[in-house]
Amino acid sequence: MKNIVILISGGGSNMAAIVRAAEHERWAARFDARVAAVISNKADAAGLALARERGIATAVVPHRDFANREDFDRALAAAVDAHAPALVVLAGFMRILTPGFVGRYAGRLINIHPSLLPAFPGLNTHQRAIDAGCKVAGLTVHQVTAELDHGPILAQAVVPVFADDTATSLAERVLVHEHRVYPAAIAAWLGETK
Ligand code: GAR
Repeated sequence: MKNIVILISGGGSNMAAIVRAAEHERWAARFDARVAAVISNKADAAGLALARERGIATAVVPHRDFANREDFDRALAAAVDAHAPALVVLAGFMRILTPGFVGRYAGRLINIHPSLLPAFPGLNTHQRAIDAGCKVAGLTVHQVTAELDHGPILAQAVVPVFADDTATSLAERVLVHEHRVYPAAIAAWLGETK
């Protein structure tokens, strides 16, 4: 069985979309894969309750408990490794990972970022796209490498930016597509690594 471990920091709507897709699209039967665990760096991440309701194992590794990134990442890796992951999925996980962590999961660590990378890595992507006068925005699913929000692109989707958009309205429009594209990219990855 290929275990998928999802890392979240907040609402977990992408995680929920992945869990739904795994059920509806029968990933267990088709890819011998399942969402084995959801891990958060924040105890109050809303997505944790959602995962528990679905009977998925959860864990919290609070980054504030650790003196530095290396120590946090070591504890996080231990929590992840407890589920022997074939694939580690960052879904709104808002911590920068050390090269050591990234290297440990090379080729099996993916992220979704709410911009058309390489444009707008980092935070506040939607406001920055609006401020730059972009006519389109979007999302990118990519393999994680040591450089933040870089790495080989697996999937992208483009959405229009409207004249009256705010960061909030644009984020909502992009998120709808995140929920479609991220599960599809994971299913494609699982299909290719059968
Ligand atoms: C999503 O829009 C995701 O692309 C973004 O955070 C949101 C999480 O929402 N991720 C990043 O900005 C990563 N740098 P969710 O918790 O509801 O899935």
